[in-house]
Amino acid sequence: MQRVEVVLDADLPGARINRHLYGHFAEHLGRCIYGGFWVGEDSDVPHEGGIRLDVVQALRALDIPNLRWPGGCFADTYHWRDGIGPREQRPRMVNSHWGDVVEDNSFGTHEFMALCEMLGAEPYVSANVGSGTVREAAQWIEYLTRADESPMAQLRRANGRDEPWSVPFWGLGNEPWGCGGGMGAGAYAELARQFGTYSLDHGDNRLYRIAAGAADADYRWTEVLMQNLGRYLGDGEVSGHGKNTYQAISFHHYTIVGPTWEQKGSATEFDADEYYRTMLKAREIERIIAGHANVMDAYDPDKRVGLVLDEWGTWFDVEPGTNPGFLFQQNTMRDALVASVHFDAFHRHADRLVMANIAQTVNVLQAMLLTDGDALVLTPSYHVFAMNKGHHDAAALPLTVRGTTPTQRVGDEELATFSGSASTKDGQVLLSLTNLDAETPLQVAVDVRGAVPGGPVARVLTADRIGAHNTASQTPVQVRELQDVHLHDGLLQVTVPPHSFATVSFPAAR
Ligand code: AHR
Repeated sequence: MQRVEVVLDADLPGARINRHLYGHFAEHLGRCIYGGFWVGEDSDVPHEGGIRLDVVQALRALDIPNLRWPGGCFADTYHWRDGIGPREQRPRMVNSHWGDVVEDNSFGTHEFMALCEMLGAEPYVSANVGSGTVREAAQWIEYLTRADESPMAQLRRANGRDEPWSVPFWGLGNEPWGCGGGMGAGAYAELARQFGTYSLDHGDNRLYRIAAGAADADYRWTEVLMQNLGRYLGDGEVSGHGKNTYQAISFHHYTIVGPTWEQKGSATEFDADEYYRTMLKAREIERIIAGHANVMDAYDPDKRVGLVLDEWGTWFDVEPGTNPGFLFQQNTMRDALVASVHFDAFHRHADRLVMANIAQTVNVLQAMLLTDGDALVLTPSYHVFAMNKGHHDAAALPLTVRGTTPTQRVGDEELATFSGSASTKDGQVLLSLTNLDAETPLQVAVDVRGAVPGGPVARVLTADRIGAHNTASQTPVQVRELQDVHLHDGLLQVTVPPHSFATVSFPAAR
């Protein structure tokens, strides 16, 4: 048994943990949209207007705050007018990034907005900056959000939707340094300002425009985008045309272990060494968020520009026998712990990081859900999102390790095997605790200061092995009650199993 002592300052609430840090991402990629969200109106799988009901129900249980669509790389090849009107008349296209398959555009704007309404999620629409035009993007916003008799509002009505939709989040392209156009930061910054300028607010709709950002730790990219905000810095209220530029900057970071891009390793077959190397990679996220935040602080000390991590998660080799362009991978306890350490880092940086989107929601990369015909599988990662729901819009609390923290040697590096974070909302405290050690249980002693804790309720997610995963026929990774929790004189003692994620919630009186 290992032990770690932490201090929880329950009377020092910090930044609000934006619920949008628990956001999602659905791209036209493999079976994410087709077979994942969308089965079509003729399907035997229970659906409403072609949208899978089991998927909607499972995601509603997570209170998913937003859904990013249509990509990813796909977004910069997508022409929205191909995805409206009678489905049988919609033009087809080649999905050149993902499997080189023919896209029939049967899932388009109306289907996506209907999905968001069913999910109770706010739409995050990514415009085509790489191969589209400013006019095309501007007209899409008009189509989506304008109420009067404008040409695009009339076109929407002709397609069966009278009322405009609300679209809060608007992406200005995706990965412009790569699949989104192969640009340098300066060229993209100019383009982002141009597209941002014509991305108008119609009626009451207020767009939060997100400029496409860096790969990983490319802080230079963030710096160039910050420099190009110029006098337009911030929330749009600054002056003149300020309202028409971007309000946030994104970046992407995937947990990829290697040794090469061609050999990223199996999602399910890995040894302890590979597991620990994955965790070292996952823990890099904290340094990278801090790096981007530091650059932004230099230009924007009041933190008016948001940082958005709109793609994150594990990326392994595809499952044997599946289309390499479909990025279908299984999801194990290892993925769940990658997610939990990411969330701890997100909570600690909630003053700058305002949104994050796991890639991707269904059947692609680090998925929440896997569909197998009419069966639905909840992955281990799904359960982390569910267990952490109490952090949505809560105030982050400081959780500080006192003394030494348990570590594991990984090559030349030391991996801290304990990770945790805490928040408070409505008089309740929620603690998230991760034990990354593959073999050894961990006793966590929490010294609760500044409040009197009440009776704790604890839950744990673990399995007999780190490679355990759920399928349509077996679900070895499930959440259960954690019995080993004791409270005495403000000291909370929790014993968590090896390779596990636990949450403890309790009322805290001041
Ligand atoms: O999520 C898969 C792909 O990863 C996205 O399309 C792209 O933005 C990123 O490179």
